[in-house]
Amino acid sequence: MVKRVVNFNPGPAGLPLEVLKKVQEELLDYQGTGLSILESSHREKEFEAVNDQAIVLVREVLGLSPDYQVLFMGGGASTQFALVPMNFIDAGQTAAYVDTGEFANKALKECQAVARAHVAFSSKEEKYRRVPKMSEIKYPDNVAYLHMCSNNTIEGTQFHEFPDTGSVPLVADMSSDIASRQLDYKKFSLFYAGAQKNLGPAGVALVVIRKDFLAKAKKGLPAILSYQTHADSKSLYNTPPVFAVYIMKLVLEWIKSKGGLAGIEKTNNTKRDLLYGAIDAAPDFYKGNAEKSSRSGMNVTMRLPTEDLENKFVAEAKKEGMVGIKGHRSVGGIRISIYNAVSLEDVQKAVDFMGRFRKSI
Ligand SMILES: Cc1ncc(COP(=O)(O)O)c(C=O)c1O
Repeated sequence: MVKRVVNFNPGPAGLPLEVLKKVQEELLDYQGTGLSILESSHREKEFEAVNDQAIVLVREVLGLSPDYQVLFMGGGASTQFALVPMNFIDAGQTAAYVDTGEFANKALKECQAVARAHVAFSSKEEKYRRVPKMSEIKYPDNVAYLHMCSNNTIEGTQFHEFPDTGSVPLVADMSSDIASRQLDYKKFSLFYAGAQKNLGPAGVALVVIRKDFLAKAKKGLPAILSYQTHADSKSLYNTPPVFAVYIMKLVLEWIKSKGGLAGIEKTNNTKRDLLYGAIDAAPDFYKGNAEKSSRSGMNVTMRLPTEDLENKFVAEAKKEGMVGIKGHRSVGGIRISIYNAVSLEDVQKAVDFMGRFRKSI
């Protein structure tokens, strides 16, 4: 028996065990080809089938209409921070950004490197402890788009609703909560996510663009930086991250086997309620970082009374087989990431540990 720990890493994060086993099973001889998918040409029919199936699965799992183009791109979500403004802001135009965390802020800065940005809301001065109410998001009505980050991985906050932007295209970085809940994806003109939390391994980003928005993308960019290039070639313009796309396909199949987003959301809500319940049951000891109404269902962040206790908490959890819970250096404390592949039993184990740890102090 291989020893596996409970993995609460913020990303790259745990993958479903069933998926890892399937990868292992198919690694040396992918479907009778005598080759690993790692060694196959992306122009061969085996990989093309994987690519096609992954596209179909993204549409199916996220409930997307044929109006949306599905792309798989290398370079992580950070590349999208730059490509979105490069592709969609015309000369002299401005885009609006909601600044709710370190990654949202990085996206804003990348826009400022190539165009003008309007800050539609910022909780920076409040240490990013909350996301705005919809009425607090303000921007001129002629902006190229409004960009937001649906889940702030580092701070542990999440949007539970999205603004009605009318004719202004809504763009979102969904890296840390994609496919974790049912969502009205029709609201978005473009959304993207690095795969390494809920969708697969690092190395590929999912990008979904409504076709009428894509039609407005700038012409004349270097081909590799143009969304149109990738759309025209079904994401096979250059060598794609084949292994990452293959695993993403398996993860999407796994999501389907769990009842799709409805099933996944139900389990995720139970996990979330268990953890925040443990925090709220001992507010003098466990202090949540996020304001209650902004709490994330994916990254649960908290502080303990002292840094020494936080270090002890991390060390003792590790002894009990739970890893990946040290908070990001900018927030400190503890962060327990409970992405899709983290089971209810794993979360129950963390909650039991929290109770015992507190009593032992
Ligand atoms: C919300 C969010 N956006 C963007 C990124 C950056 O992703 P990448 O490292 O794939 O560029 C991350 C990484 O953790 C993230 O959590």
